Amino acid sequence: MKFVVAIDGGAGSGKSTTAKAVAERLNFFYLDTGAMYRTVTLKYLQCGGNIKKIDMLLIEKIIKKTTIDLCREDHKTHVYLDEKDVTLEIRKPAVNNLVSPISALAKVRIWMVDKQREVAKGRDVVCEGRDIGTVVFPQAQVKIFMQADLKERARRRIKELAEKNINVTFDEVLDNLKFRDDFDSRRAHSPLKKAQDAIVVDTTHLTIDQEIDIVEKLVRERLENRTRVS
Ligand code: DC
Repeated sequence: MKFVVAIDGGAGSGKSTTAKAVAERLNFFYLDTGAMYRTVTLKYLQCGGNIKKIDMLLIEKIIKKTTIDLCREDHKTHVYLDEKDVTLEIRKPAVNNLVSPISALAKVRIWMVDKQREVAKGRDVVCEGRDIGTVVFPQAQVKIFMQADLKERARRRIKELAEKNINVTFDEVLDNLKFRDDFDSRRAHSPLKKAQDAIVVDTTHLTIDQEIDIVEKLVRERLENRTRVS
């Protein structure tokens, strides 16, 4: 296995910003697993899937017929669903509201985890999600668990969405973050959970640069140790 940095944590805890920047600084591949679950959810919505009760037959069809690709273009990750760029669409409220129930399905997770391991094969990666340190890459050389106060996370998420011209209220964002964290932590299959050997980074009172520096330092220390040992 090449060098894997696993970053897990709740919605809006700073994982994506940190993972992207650390990957960039170290020249590692950045793997956003949340984007993959969002993309399946978007496909389900595009196919007219029932929102109240998930249609398992439709999910099985989607698993057989869907391609999801993550490509790095101009320092940005672009997400392709069946070769169409859906980078912005997967951040919309309709996807936010359904992604937790869809990603809790065992069939979806098995498919996604296979894909995530395939994408990471032979690469040094920074991989972010909910189950990276516990299930996807339990042997990751660095495991980080990020957390932050709920209201602070909501404020950051609103700002991020506004930059993408997606306008939502504070309460909508807060409710969605809370709903997803509860759902993601309580599901039976690979719930959101800190790996025993993960280092907790609380970002509530940190600036973006500070949180990136902390994680980068942790990774560089492990990288140096590895070089010294081998
Ligand atoms: O990181 P994000 O907010 O884009 O993730 C969207 C949803 O995808 C999240 O609420 C739960 C699910 N997810 C997951 O179940 N496992 C992962 N490794 C990543 C995301």
